[in-house]
Amino acid sequence: MSKTVTVNDVGPRDGLQNQPNILTPDQRLELIKALLQAGISHIEVGSFVSTRAVPAMIGTDKVLSALNETPGHFTVLVPNMKGYQLARDAGAQHVSMVLYATDAMAMANANMSRADAEQVMQQILRQAVDDGIRATATIAVAWECPFDGPVEIGTVTAIAGKFIHTGIEQLVLADTIGAANPQQVRELTTKLVNEHGASRLVCHFHDTRAMGLANVFAALESGIRSFDASIGGLGGCPFAPGASGNVATEDVVMMLEQMGYNTGIKLQGLMRASKLATDLTNNAPGGRAKAWLEKHLQKTLEHA
Ligand code: COA
Ligand code: ZN
Repeated sequence: MSKTVTVNDVGPRDGLQNQPNILTPDQRLELIKALLQAGISHIEVGSFVSTRAVPAMIGTDKVLSALNETPGHFTVLVPNMKGYQLARDAGAQHVSMVLYATDAMAMANANMSRADAEQVMQQILRQAVDDGIRATATIAVAWECPFDGPVEIGTVTAIAGKFIHTGIEQLVLADTIGAANPQQVRELTTKLVNEHGASRLVCHFHDTRAMGLANVFAALESGIRSFDASIGGLGGCPFAPGASGNVATEDVVMMLEQMGYNTGIKLQGLMRASKLATDLTNNAPGGRAKAWLEKHLQKTLEHA
């Protein structure tokens, strides 16, 4: 099985959308560039959503156009057709759409039912195919919903079965509020990998209950080789009560590299990006291995 793992940093979107400290597009770009310098090639750089609902994402068009000439794989989240059109007009090459495992989460996040969100996603996908824009879909609350509680595994496998072969590039299983445990992650990911293969599947974990890394490991054992993570553990969904930060990119990369996987990402650079995230937001906790990583990397520098 492949020893190469892709880590997609969603900090500039999932991480920043909920911050009390709203960053300017230039500050967001500074963070994105720090991530690129650390060797991260996949970054979710923002979203095209209601500016009233998420003021922190105002200016995603500026962020995208500033990255126009920059090599890298940049995605933007779009909740509806209007968001898609804005993204396309701003030059997006890859959009990320949202499906829901529960009606309550669809309503809270996008003001539509689960079924309507599926239809919207299909419309966006058709348009994206016509426009030559790549598209990925995320299943939000794939394990547990803050409103409706635990999600039946069959609900998620049914959504995955319906959409995974419709032309989307990847399907992301999101533990939006960080409630899943490794056993539940293994159960769902094993089933989906057996049914569809691992190549299109991505996992997205929040670290609310300190099970983020264990969940990455469980999915890795099922064969998944693509993960979302957020620099400095930034994050939390404003529409999902109880959601705290994503599993920190530096923790995920540290664990993967120590286990002999290749991410192409440099921890030294990541720690610089993580410090920048903390300085800019005044609020990034840093990964759980922060103290050890800082000490270890300092020693490495001294002996270089
Ligand atoms: N981008 C920017 N503005 C948008 C928009 C988008 N994607 N979609 C709708 N709007 C605007 C409309 O033009 C309208 O503006 P107006 O009042 O000035 O005329 C206003 O928002 C309301 O439009 P409506 O279609 O009624 O949307 P809504 O109130 O039902 O809200 C969403 C739906 C999806 C736009 C809103 O809930 C949203 O943006 N949520 C953000 C979800 C998110 O980012 N979650 C975190 C990531 S999963
Ligand atoms: Zn998330």
